[in-house]
Amino acid sequence: MVDRNGWGRDRPVPTGSPRSPPDWFAQQANVTDGGIYETFERDWPDCWERAADLLSWDEAYDTVLNDGNAPFYEWFAGGKLNAAYNCVDRHLEAGRKNHVAIRWEGKHGERETYTYRDLYVEVNEFAAALRGLGVEEDDVVTIYLPMIPALPIAMLACARIGAPHSVVFAGLSADALATRMDAAESEYLITCDGYYRRGDAFNQKSKADNARLSVDRDVETVVVDRLGDDLPHVLGDDERDYHDLCREYAGETVEPVSRDAEDMLFLMYTSGTTGEPKGVVHTTGGYLAHVAWTSHAVLDITPEDTYWCAADIGWITGHSYIVYGPLALGTTTVMYEGTPDYPDRDRLWEIVDRNAVDVFYTAPTAIRAFMKWGSDYPDRHDLSSLRLLGSVGEPISPRPWNWYREHIGRGDCPVVDTWWQTETGAVIVSTLPGIDEMKPGAAGPGLPGIDVAVVDEAGDPVEPGQAGYLTIGRPWPGMARTLYDGDDRFRSEYWDRFSDPDRDEWVYFSGDAAAIDEDGYITVLGRIDDVINVSGRRLSTMEIESAITDVSGVAEAAVVGRSSEVNGTDIYAYVSTAGGHDPDARVRQRIVDSIESTIGPIAKPSEIVFTPELPKTRSGKIMRRLLEDIANGEDLGDTSSLRNPEIVGEIQAESGSE
Ligand code: WTA
Repeated sequence: MVDRNGWGRDRPVPTGSPRSPPDWFAQQANVTDGGIYETFERDWPDCWERAADLLSWDEAYDTVLNDGNAPFYEWFAGGKLNAAYNCVDRHLEAGRKNHVAIRWEGKHGERETYTYRDLYVEVNEFAAALRGLGVEEDDVVTIYLPMIPALPIAMLACARIGAPHSVVFAGLSADALATRMDAAESEYLITCDGYYRRGDAFNQKSKADNARLSVDRDVETVVVDRLGDDLPHVLGDDERDYHDLCREYAGETVEPVSRDAEDMLFLMYTSGTTGEPKGVVHTTGGYLAHVAWTSHAVLDITPEDTYWCAADIGWITGHSYIVYGPLALGTTTVMYEGTPDYPDRDRLWEIVDRNAVDVFYTAPTAIRAFMKWGSDYPDRHDLSSLRLLGSVGEPISPRPWNWYREHIGRGDCPVVDTWWQTETGAVIVSTLPGIDEMKPGAAGPGLPGIDVAVVDEAGDPVEPGQAGYLTIGRPWPGMARTLYDGDDRFRSEYWDRFSDPDRDEWVYFSGDAAAIDEDGYITVLGRIDDVINVSGRRLSTMEIESAITDVSGVAEAAVVGRSSEVNGTDIYAYVSTAGGHDPDARVRQRIVDSIESTIGPIAKPSEIVFTPELPKTRSGKIMRRLLEDIANGEDLGDTSSLRNPEIVGEIQAESGSE
């Protein structure tokens, strides 16, 4: 197997010594029957009714799975339900109105608590307000908010009236917001004046204003006042203040709209193999069933828990495991606005301690930072409330895995390493924490009912220990149904490579490389497409390259990932200028500005290397893999077949890796 990241070459698959779940955990876990894998196999696809049973349906579904038009599968077709009803109302009806739904921890130590009753009131008022603004069922509402309570409230208000939301991560740029609004034909925007970044007030509204200038249609806008006097702002005629609106609709309730299981719940834009972001479509029934089931079976959440997923709701992890999964189960979900190191590096542990958090879920990039900062910070706090730890977003190698278990989990908490994607909606690969042995460095087997395989170029399973492509062979409820911009792109991005439509055999390709061991445990190695994973965030190298080549004076650019201790991957940009001239310092700044304005600061390269030319094959293709090896200081092998082999030494010297 040959590809641009070179996973075909021999790389050791690192796993540490296996660990069994401790008895105390296994005895109380939500899923304790080791026979669940067999049961799910035997009853597939009806086994997924267990997931659907975690929800309240307005009308029962007719079929569990309809595979008549693969790969456009339907789950629980004929069923009707409302996601906001499932996440809010039914917990009131169950007599849990005073149970805490959301504990919000603000950047500057502010705290807010929302009971299920409070959430019900706020979601209803904002749902009524959205209706008042003219939002109808199936209108896409764009939400561009940081981690403040208005974000999940707005999402649930949309769900209540059957308007799909499209949340755009608050750190993305005005251009990125405009592209997503245009692609989704969205005429409604919910944003805020600004938010605090580190200690400073940061203006979000000016980004939203700029985006609206370039969006094709008129946009009704709601602005949440987060900063008060720290950032005074003026509202235009087509802008409404969130709190004023809610006051106007105070006390109003809106009947939850009964949605078909297959109706869209939300859109989430993510980076793809081509420059244009992909609008991943998730539905109401299958998605909600799958996130509720995995919150129960993998994260082991119970309604009595205080659960904390330290991610941002602007990405899929936050949608599934801060908002929809935990609230569907009626638990208390913690929402944190700030960063792990502000005001000090023990901020997260202070929050765990004070709230007696039971289950904690975060990304390897954070864990590697904690490890670097040292155990003194967690040691200052009582973390004995923790029962289970989770990891998501990137591969976690044995060292940080063990550190996490040892220093955050007292050497005693199980750790689940969960592999999944925006497109899978919910967890696909993980151990079941009450049943399975854990192997540090390997995520685990496919969940019960999930058919993952690691295959070679021809689609045949690889031998244990070998690297191959990570694929999923059968449909699952939380899967994306299509891409908003078209079914063709959905097929070509995910299904064409390994499926055989003539024989009606459909295989989903994840874009990841992985290895599998004798026990079916998967070690994910990383992306093999044009996506790089920086601190657990998916970025498209092509999008960054096109932002660079937009700068006048730049001829060509190639962006690659360089392994990094804390971020997992750092962005390295190789740039040639028109005429091969040495650029002046302003070009470097213009490149950074262009990336920040088309994507956002998260896509800023950690290194920009100027070179007279980029290395190319005889047919003129840029050799990105070679550049990646140079960035990573790896052995380059024979480069004589390049069209311009002489350039390699120069680039190495510039990169400081000679
Ligand atoms: C990577 C985030 C290794 C992977 C939920 C995938 C992981 C991409 C893991 C999806 C894991 C996610 N081990 N790699 N446990 N979890 N990934 O869409 O490359 O933001 O394809 O979804 O993150 O990123 P996305």
